[in-house]
Order: sequence, then structure tokens, then C-alpha cells
Amino acid sequence: MEKPQIIQLPKILDKRGNLSFFEYPRQLPFEIMRTYWIYDVPGGETRGSHAFKAQQEFIVALSGSFDVVLHDGENEERFSLNRSYYGLYIPKMYWRRLENFSTNSLALIVSDKLYDATDYIRDFEDFKKLKNGS
Ligand code: TYD
Repeated sequence: MEKPQIIQLPKILDKRGNLSFFEYPRQLPFEIMRTYWIYDVPGGETRGSHAFKAQQEFIVALSGSFDVVLHDGENEERFSLNRSYYGLYIPKMYWRRLENFSTNSLALIVSDKLYDATDYIRDFEDFKKLKNGS
């Protein structure tokens, strides 16, 4: 997968409560190496604001809602995540920011790489140059 996209997840409806899941390769295009989550975000705060040179991610709003804004070097696209039965796949080399967190929102993020500070691009101008190949 080369483009960001919403991936629908299985939803096992049950009177006792619903259940969803994802696994590689059926729902996810990569094998998971790392899982982290973002929570207790104060109103109005923004997370992210960087791109990754190599790592891919998949983000699910397990609780509450937030927006993921992606920039491909030319255009920006906003994805609103607010259900736990779908998530957003983000390929490498997309500038992302997470914003508009609702109270008690919980963002689950899985990645195909271990944490590596050198994989981050934290300057938007550097990102655009790398992305546009100049
Ligand atoms: P960062 O990725 O910059 O946060 P954001 O979600 O806003 O983009 O990470 C914040 C801090 O947490 C940074 O000091 C690195 C550390 N961190 C880890 O140690 N391991 C991880 O897996 C992640 C995602 C972050």
C-alpha cells in the first residue's frame, strides 16, 4: 500500500459487547514491531507534526475521537477517527499531525519499526525537499 487509507476492521457484534481486531497480513499491510498509545491529551493540544523516513503506522481511535491531518508534500488530507472498528494506514514519508482530541480519547498506534529517533523528519521544509526529490 502506497497511499494513506482507512482500513475497515472486523466487527464481531455480540449482546455481551462488541469485539474488533487486526492482524497481519489480513487487515494490516505490515508486521507489527511496536505498539504505543496517546492518552490524557489536554484540550486543544496537537501531537505529531513530523514524518518518518521509513516507518509505517496504523492508527485506531480506541476511544473518543481525533483528526489525523496528512501532508504528502503537496496536499493536505484530514481523516477523522471516531470508531474503534476502523483505522488509518499511513505509509512512510507522510507529514502527520493529530489534533482535535476529544475528552478521554485514546489513540492506539502500531508501527512496523522499533522506536528510532533518526527516522523522524521534524522540519517541514526538509520533509518537502526530501519528498519532492530535490
Ligand atoms: P513523539 O513521537 O515525538 O510524540 P508525538 O506523538 O507527538 O509525535 O514522541 C514523544 C517522546 O516519546 C519522544 O521523546 C520519544 C518518546 N518515544 C519513545 O521513547 N518510544 C516510542 O515508541 C515513541 C512513539 C515515543
